[in-house]
Amino acid sequence: MKPRTISDRVQWVGAVDWNRRLFDSLIPLPDGTSYNAYLVRGSEKTALIDAVDPALQHLLFAQLADVPQIDYVISQHAEQDHSGALPDVLKKYPGAKLLCSSKARGLLLEHLALPEDRVQTVEDGETLSLGDRTLQFVYTPWVHWPETMSTYLPEEKILFSCDFFGSHLATSDLYAGGSAYVIEAAKRYYAEIMMPFRTVIQKNLQKLEPLDFNMIAPSHGPIYDQPQSILDSYRDWVSDRVSNMVVIPYISMHGSTEMMVNHLMQALIEREVGVQKFDLSVTDIGKLAMSLVDAATIVIGTPTVHVGPHPVVYSAAQLANAIRPKLKFAAVIGSYGWGTKAVEQISGLIPNLKVEVLGAVMCKGLPRAESFAALNELAGKIRDSHQRVAG
Ligand code: FEO
Repeated sequence: MKPRTISDRVQWVGAVDWNRRLFDSLIPLPDGTSYNAYLVRGSEKTALIDAVDPALQHLLFAQLADVPQIDYVISQHAEQDHSGALPDVLKKYPGAKLLCSSKARGLLLEHLALPEDRVQTVEDGETLSLGDRTLQFVYTPWVHWPETMSTYLPEEKILFSCDFFGSHLATSDLYAGGSAYVIEAAKRYYAEIMMPFRTVIQKNLQKLEPLDFNMIAPSHGPIYDQPQSILDSYRDWVSDRVSNMVVIPYISMHGSTEMMVNHLMQALIEREVGVQKFDLSVTDIGKLAMSLVDAATIVIGTPTVHVGPHPVVYSAAQLANAIRPKLKFAAVIGSYGWGTKAVEQISGLIPNLKVEVLGAVMCKGLPRAESFAALNELAGKIRDSHQRVAG
């Protein structure tokens, strides 16, 4: 892999991870990912912005082979997919200072055992001169760690944003252009890790507004050379707007819960309410997370195992609770063989969801006319509730 030129002063020196299929042993990466690092050369000093995952650090070092000196290493985020190669970067460049936010310093020292005297902090808004190029540091915390910052290069009108605006995509394309596919991948990334911090991200977006940039260079996925579409998408995702959409994560053991889900789905469609259903035995949890970015309602469908929800539903409910989508309404439907406490147990799993509970429909054995009537009633309640929040 060779450096890729963004301008005569800025190069991409990252690593594309074509084969990675799981992040944090949890998050599916259907399209791989990249760890973007950038080299910025001023007339007097040279800076490296972020590093790469240690598994691919040989690719970074191959691109730095002809770079005799780095004066500053900017660590925007302490998580190892960007910081993991930093110890060896500092060894290769013994004169380089590592610069990071005040919250990042402790994290970098603890996670990577970096030499304390090499790590200096920069304040929010502080600038660093590289001669005829300047780096300005802008704290953009909670995209998903507390210490993350972005770096603005005004002379090139580039914003280096780290995880913010990133997408897990392995591609030979350096730039996103107008690709809707990249926006979709960025939505998946936002849903998986940033959604719990929606209100902080609103503030981060406002903070970036005064900066005059025409390129966003994140630390994952292609560079946005037409940044308006990703900015508009983020503004929508973090807004309070919800869509006329019901998300139904469910699983079925002997078919009863599936019959109920399908009946409810049809009843919602007849009432002009959108539906996305996810069979949790096969679904990609990233897709489920994406569907929750702006859905108004979640309906959890579960059979009963002993007296509780199916363990896979248990896990999905915990995930939904952790990513804190802006849902307004919730309901539970499902079935049981001889007895159930599934509704009560699911309610206890989602305290972070500030939702109005629209009801529960649980049937013993096969659903019959009475259960289908209750599902029709639930569909009507959902439609009316959506109309209420739509104003
Ligand atoms: Fe891409 Fe939070 O690291």
